[in-house]
Parts: sequence; C-alpha cells; structure tokens
Amino acid sequence: MTSSPEIRESATNEAEAILALYPLAFPDEDLTGLVAELLPLTEVLSLVATHDDRIIGHAIFTRGRNETGQKLALLGPIGVHPNHQSGGLGKALIAAGAARLNAEGADELLVLGDPDYYSHRGFDVPASLDAPYPLKPEWAEAWRSMLLVAHQRATGSLALPEPWMKPEYWA
Ligand SMILES: CC(C)(COP(=O)(O)OP(=O)(O)OC[C@H]1O[C@@H](n2cnc3c(N)ncnc32)[C@H](O)[C@@H]1OP(=O)(O)O)[C@@H](O)C(=O)NCCC(=O)NCCS
Repeated sequence: MTSSPEIRESATNEAEAILALYPLAFPDEDLTGLVAELLPLTEVLSLVATHDDRIIGHAIFTRGRNETGQKLALLGPIGVHPNHQSGGLGKALIAAGAARLNAEGADELLVLGDPDYYSHRGFDVPASLDAPYPLKPEWAEAWRSMLLVAHQRATGSLALPEPWMKPEYWA
C-alpha cells in the first residue's frame, strides 16, 4: 500500500463506484437496489474507505426514530472489498459512523447482522426496541444495539425511511 486508507463521507458523484463494490463484497446477495435507493436520502450517512482514491469499503447509517422521538440509526449494509477484508476497515467504518452519529446527538445505533462479528464491534447486547417488521425468532441475537448518547436502550419500535420498510429485509 502506498498510503493508509482514508474514511470520509461519500460524495454524490461516487454512487456508481459505491454500487460497484457491493457485488464483490456480497457475491450471493444483490444489495445494489437498496443501496441505490438509500444513498440520495438526507437521513443517510454514507461513509467510504478509500485507498489511492479507490473505494475499498462502504457503510450506510440510516437515521430513524421510535415513537418517543429518540434519535436512532441503523447500520447497514456495510461492505469491504474482498482483497481488503479482515484488515480493520469494517471496524474503522463502524467506529467512524458511530462517532459522527454520537456527535450529532443520536441515542443508539442498531444493526441486524452476524452476532459473532458485531458483538466485538461495539454492538454489545441485543436491542430492546422492535425492528420495523417482526424478525425470525432465530435472528433475536442478530438484532443488536450500540449505545451512543443514551444511557438506556430505546424501547418501542424503529421507524425508518421508506426503502427499509419492506418485510423481506427483516424476515
Ligand atoms: C463483514 C465485513 C464488513 C467486515 O469488515 P472487515 O474489514 O473485513 O472486518 P474487520 O477487519 O473489522 O474485522 C475482521 C475480523 O472480523 C471477522 N469477520 C469478518 N466477517 C465476519 C462475519 N461475517 N462473522 C464473524 N466474523 C467475521 C474476521 O474473521 C476478522 O477476525 P480477526 O480480527 O479475529 O482476524 C467485511 O468482511 C465484508 O464486507 N464481508 C462481506 C459482506 C458482509 O458480510 N457484510 C456484513 C453484512 S451487512
């Protein structure tokens, strides 16, 4: 490597390069439609990890609320180029997003993902609030929480922008 990876917010003209990363990181899953719908939203924080001006990692954080108006956010999708996985980029993208959300006063960050990975990346316990749609019972451990500004886990249910409001993403 000629320089260290940089993590920053993506620019609007980087959508194509971001979308090109997803089939590489997720060869068995097509997330490009979801990512394309999320990227333009003002509720979305989109972070890229770049190396020599190439995008080698990307993470989306979507801001949402519960019924009491708490500021919440969902992490996902997150993808790292296969040639750069297990080098700390996923961890760094999560930490950078959490720091930005914390600075703007977000209470809690949620994720639906592999508990073996996310429990070591700050999502230390299962979430106490409901996902937008009922989860499969076997996914209870995968619905996880990282406290930011809040001292207690949010309850109620998470409301997110429209692209996330499809049962197939949750069940
Ligand atoms: C999951 C992913 C984002 C993590 O990013 P990364 O930069 O590779 O991960 P990090 O460097 O932060 O962490 C690496 C560690 O996590 C482990 N790890 C990676 N993916 C894992 C998974 N799905 N389950 C459990 N552990 C995992 C690695 O074995 C490694 O362990 P080590 O530190 O003991 O060596 C990346 O591997 C990726 O894009 N994977 C394919 C797409 C995917 O599954 N995305 C997540 C679902 S939204």
